[in-house]
Amino acid sequence: MTMNNHTDASVIEAIALRKSYGTHDVLKGLDLSLTRGEVVALIGPSGSGKSTFIRCLNMLEIPTEGTIRFRQKKVGDRFRDNGEEIGIGTLRRHVGMVFQHFNLFPHKTVLQNVTEGPIIVCKTSKREAEERAMDLLAQVGLAEKHAAYPNHLSGGQKQRVAIARALAMQPEVLLLDEVTSALDPELVGEVLAVIRRLAEEGMTMAIVTHEMAFAADVANRVLFLDQGVIAEAGSANDVILNPQNPRLQAFVARFRG
Ligand SMILES: Nc1ncnc2c1ncn2[C@@H]1O[C@H](COP(=O)(O)OP(=O)(O)OP(=O)(O)O)[C@@H](O)[C@H]1O
Ligand SMILES: [Mg+2]
Repeated sequence: MTMNNHTDASVIEAIALRKSYGTHDVLKGLDLSLTRGEVVALIGPSGSGKSTFIRCLNMLEIPTEGTIRFRQKKVGDRFRDNGEEIGIGTLRRHVGMVFQHFNLFPHKTVLQNVTEGPIIVCKTSKREAEERAMDLLAQVGLAEKHAAYPNHLSGGQKQRVAIARALAMQPEVLLLDEVTSALDPELVGEVLAVIRRLAEEGMTMAIVTHEMAFAADVANRVLFLDQGVIAEAGSANDVILNPQNPRLQAFVARFRG
């Protein structure tokens, strides 16, 4: 844990964020501020802009308008830091992301997948990177798989490696985009358990998920994205358990099964 006195200050923020592809306005002015240790769940119909939004948060997509702020500083459009502005490189180094499809390097072992970022990007020594990686693999229950290659792992195991790989960079914020939706149902629980523990340990996270029960359980705040805007925001109790907006009611009913 980093020492920080501004515990209620925003770690990452989106302000009046807009993203268009040609004439298609996907995000139509979104605001979000994540404070340290906060867990926000993003729910919403397919195509509502959830992935676009979290990809904008770490500048994998460059917003058409609006601002991303990290540690209360504007993120610029250059890779390097520049006076008052944080560079995209710095932002990405501190904001980890895990996707629906694991994106592990197939020709590297589990251990090499987890140590690659720290060694290449952070210039951590191989020994230290490996020690930390073994710790993280133990935390996600995969220490004994460190020498295996990704194609010898189950989907749930691969996704837990992907989470360990993101954590190896010691991110301040973790962005998770439907990390369980490509998994067989019996493998979902083991991945959600890892995320739940991260939440309990105080990791700041934005989680896109269709797992309503999980979102209700783990999130401090739930946002309902609909047609490119945040149509509802509030506690899980308000948004998922007692939705008022009819489109949200219909959405939640569909996923509660
Ligand atoms: N690179 C792109 N070029 C053009 N249109 C795009 C691009 N990426 C996304 N879109 C469009 O933006 C809209 C929002 O997509 P996005 O992937 O953010 O939705 P989502 O809420 O994550 O949906 P899902 O639940 O299916 O993952 C969609 O209509 C999509 O077709
Ligand atoms: Mg998506």
